[in-house]
Amino acid sequence: MCGIVAAVTTGTDVRAVVLQGLKTLEYRGYDSAGMAVCTEQGLDVRRKMGKIANLEEELDKNQLPESATAIAHTRWATHGAPADRNAHPHVDDQQQVVVVHNGIIENYLDLRAELAELGHEFHTDTDTEVLANLIAHYRKSSADLHQAVRSALHKVEGAYGLVVMAADDPNTLIVARLDSPLVVGIGEHGRYAASDMPALLHLTRDFLVLDNRETAVLTPHSHALYDVHGQVLERDLMHCDWTPEQAERGGYPHFMLKEIHEQPDVLARTAFDRFHDLAGDVDFEPEFGLDDRTLQSFERLRFMAMGTSFHAAQLGQKMIGELASLPGETLNASEFLYSPRLPEGQALTVVVSQSGETADTLRAMREVQKRGGRVLGICNVQGSTLAREADHLILTHCGPEVGVASTKAFFGQVTALYLLAIRFGRARGVLNAEQGRQFLQDLRALRHKLEYCFREETLATIQQAAQYLSGVRSCLFLGRSFQHPVALEGALKLKEISYIHAEGYPAGEMKHGPIALIDADFPVIAIATPGTTYEKMLSNIQEVRARDGKVVAVAAMGDDKVAAAADYVLSVPAVPELLAPLVTVVPLQLLSYEVALALGKDIDQPRNLAKSVTVE
Ligand code: M6R
Repeated sequence: MCGIVAAVTTGTDVRAVVLQGLKTLEYRGYDSAGMAVCTEQGLDVRRKMGKIANLEEELDKNQLPESATAIAHTRWATHGAPADRNAHPHVDDQQQVVVVHNGIIENYLDLRAELAELGHEFHTDTDTEVLANLIAHYRKSSADLHQAVRSALHKVEGAYGLVVMAADDPNTLIVARLDSPLVVGIGEHGRYAASDMPALLHLTRDFLVLDNRETAVLTPHSHALYDVHGQVLERDLMHCDWTPEQAERGGYPHFMLKEIHEQPDVLARTAFDRFHDLAGDVDFEPEFGLDDRTLQSFERLRFMAMGTSFHAAQLGQKMIGELASLPGETLNASEFLYSPRLPEGQALTVVVSQSGETADTLRAMREVQKRGGRVLGICNVQGSTLAREADHLILTHCGPEVGVASTKAFFGQVTALYLLAIRFGRARGVLNAEQGRQFLQDLRALRHKLEYCFREETLATIQQAAQYLSGVRSCLFLGRSFQHPVALEGALKLKEISYIHAEGYPAGEMKHGPIALIDADFPVIAIATPGTTYEKMLSNIQEVRARDGKVVAVAAMGDDKVAAAADYVLSVPAVPELLAPLVTVVPLQLLSYEVALALGKDIDQPRNLAKSVTVE
């Protein structure tokens, strides 16, 4: 997905810091990159297809002049193939206005035709070049760049995160947002803009977050925010608790590996400050905003999310059902629009998203709110659209997740949902204080137990299993009850970074079809940890063996029965059944990582995938 970084500063040369910010966004996936500067001599642009390294090479050969103002972009092609000429920034045909843009201008063909009739010439296949010309067109009747951008945006249908710079105004940037994230960074030496906060953490941790249809005028010393009617808005800055180091690899070969290893700390950050040990309860921050009476008033829950967050949501539904006896359903957010329009009644919708910017998820959330429903967001990114628009909020505090394959975010989401289950259970009188304390204690004890998942012997077995799996074409992940969503997550992890086909199933379903696939070349990854489903999982493993299928089992350490039946055993510490997903998911994440590594895949930037899917 596209990324934006821009800066307008007090006279220092800003090219290097803008490029540094752009590199922070590499993980989002892109096919070309570019940068533009503005000096007294006018605009200057460099664009290059391929990695940012290609742009750097171009900048070495063909330097941009020093400048205190710059805009830069990584492009993920939508309109027009990946090519130098289609890369951003885009200028108008008179080289007066330059634009970087995330999103899609849906009516660009009509606008392009209108502008062509007025004599504008186009040199790219992009919708963004149309926008640059449209702004330049309005600039002819108003010297005010902000006014020209606003006039142009009134004509535009679609989505945009936008930064605009003009040749005759090197000390000003105009930014705008509609359905594509954009934040403004407030620094000592200037004002910055980016599509994602991590791109600016090396410059500032104070942000102004734009809402839809808002614009802002940035100069080195000032920022002014405007609503859609051009009225000035006052908004408090948001201080981001992420550090620049958190957005770096920190000695690990891949972000994904770093993020898997961070999970014991995520547990502490998401949960430990929220324990109310005396009451056996959970204290969420004020933005949670649901008191006991309100929690008692809900008759059912609806969970919605996409991808990995969807799997966490499925676990949340099971946990709250267990600890608070509250019925619920989990929907893939992209399907919600097509589900029957039943009265919301006394329902709470829990929307789960790492980024808080997933288009399908946001669309579903807004639809619930339009129907009069109430939304609790569970989200990792402070200031994201979900965090701002949800009626109630729990932040997961995982720190920035950079790897496209989500790992620690899942861990944080499941932890937060476990806390929510305790909160519901206590508020509704299903759990007493002592039971609440026990559940909190179990979670506290998990941090230490997780160390087992990262021991050398454990990793060695995972690597052996990974060597074997790297040679197969397809496989099945099986789990029951609380381990069913983990099986789905294990399969998703494997396919997205190793490109090996994998399906997750509830193990009970195996005999209803998938078993036909099993032979000596078709392995099954079975999660068989202690608890209510253990015996049945053992039977499933035997059924696979009886058909010559190879078994990679995830089992509690010292489980001889599973060890006797499986070809590879990925051991995990024994923990209470409700928390077992938080330990079984770890070897599955590591397994996928090791398979992808063995196959030489691009682990942090898997093909065709974007970290944040901002189009439906
Ligand atoms: O930011 P979100 O949690 O809303 O993202 C949802 C999915 O796009 C995301 O989990 C995706 O499935 C990841 N690639 C999974 O690793």
